[in-house]
Amino acid sequence: MTQHIGIFVTGGIAAYKVPLLVRALVRAGNEVRVVMTDAAKAFVTEATLATVSKAAVLTDRNEFAQPEHVAHVALAHWMDLAVVVPATANTIAKLAVGMADNVVTTTLLAFSGPKLLVPAMNDQMWLNAQTQANVAHLQQAGWQVLPPATGFLAEGYAAVGRMPDLPVIETFIATVQPVAFLTGQRVLVTAGGTRERIDPVRYIGNDSSGQMGTALANVAAAAGAEVTLITTATLPTLPQVTVVPVADAAAMRTAVQATFPAVDIAIMAAAVADYRPVEQADHKLKKHGADGLTLALAQNPDILAELGATKTHQVVVGFAAETNDLLANATAKLTKKRADLLVANRVGAGLGFNQPTNAVTLLAPDQAPVALPEAPKVTIAAQILRHIQQVRA
Ligand code: CTP
Repeated sequence: MTQHIGIFVTGGIAAYKVPLLVRALVRAGNEVRVVMTDAAKAFVTEATLATVSKAAVLTDRNEFAQPEHVAHVALAHWMDLAVVVPATANTIAKLAVGMADNVVTTTLLAFSGPKLLVPAMNDQMWLNAQTQANVAHLQQAGWQVLPPATGFLAEGYAAVGRMPDLPVIETFIATVQPVAFLTGQRVLVTAGGTRERIDPVRYIGNDSSGQMGTALANVAAAAGAEVTLITTATLPTLPQVTVVPVADAAAMRTAVQATFPAVDIAIMAAAVADYRPVEQADHKLKKHGADGLTLALAQNPDILAELGATKTHQVVVGFAAETNDLLANATAKLTKKRADLLVANRVGAGLGFNQPTNAVTLLAPDQAPVALPEAPKVTIAAQILRHIQQVRA
């Protein structure tokens, strides 16, 4: 889905990374316009940002270049979303009191849509009580804030204040929700394909990338939920998502069972292996010879069915990835596993697994199937989570 994104660059060293962010947003199909302060020009050039955004950059110098149109108001009308990245302590302070003394603050004051703040600065400036109060004030006013990460700062030491990695900022922008529709909800999500060990260097796996489950976790967090993601994947997540890394079905089951009692919604998006090798060798297995090798496999417990059988207040959501007879197979799973909702999708060449988009059908007991047409997994995730809210109601 094409978004009109305004990127507002202010004068911090992290500005040198913004061209790569702009390029990634354009590559993802968005239209981007950049606005920068004079202070930002010390760290990144206007020509670079104009080239990667494929549009002129708005600055204090050229704001009135076309007297027939008011540039900052026109841009505010054009934008769907505004992102201040990096946001300095100075610009944050100005925004908190509603100042409009340059093209960045003026345009943002004229914009009433979703506004995202990505602060990056020295640790002491970030921890300063006045900066914290300014950020809290902006949050109350509806700004969404991606807090700085802890890591190596330009000053040469490790501390809080670092701009989060670009994939995390891209995730923040892609998952933003207009309404915090899951505030107060605790959500558990599993994601990725499990790896069942044969020996220290080999495993039985599957094609699940974890993108759908990770999108569900990030969107739920962006919608205000408290989220635990139990995953075999290492995809970017929002800082407020608690990530529990696991490898095989047994570890996933242990982590799910520890988390399940305290959640309101459990979504099993992981592709859990149905079987594991009976024996896991502690050394690399040697070639067996021309007769071939037979691996003995034992069945894994069905985590989703266990949740369905033991749920008390939780809404339990399963997935069904099928290559054929989608609705019949998925409906049978819904009943057998006692799920409250089943997300059915086709998998196969170019479909479902390891793709940026998905098309799914939602099945709930005694309800007509709801088909969600092909869309980015983040969009599908938001639709699934809103549907879960309806199932709860
Ligand atoms: N699932 C699970 N534990 C397992 C197997 C599957 O929790 N051991 C969950 C998956 O996370 C998913 C749902 O069950 O939410 C359906 O997974 P799928 O592999 O499609 O179903 P299976 O029951 O394994 O059926 P089959 O492989 O025979 O199609």
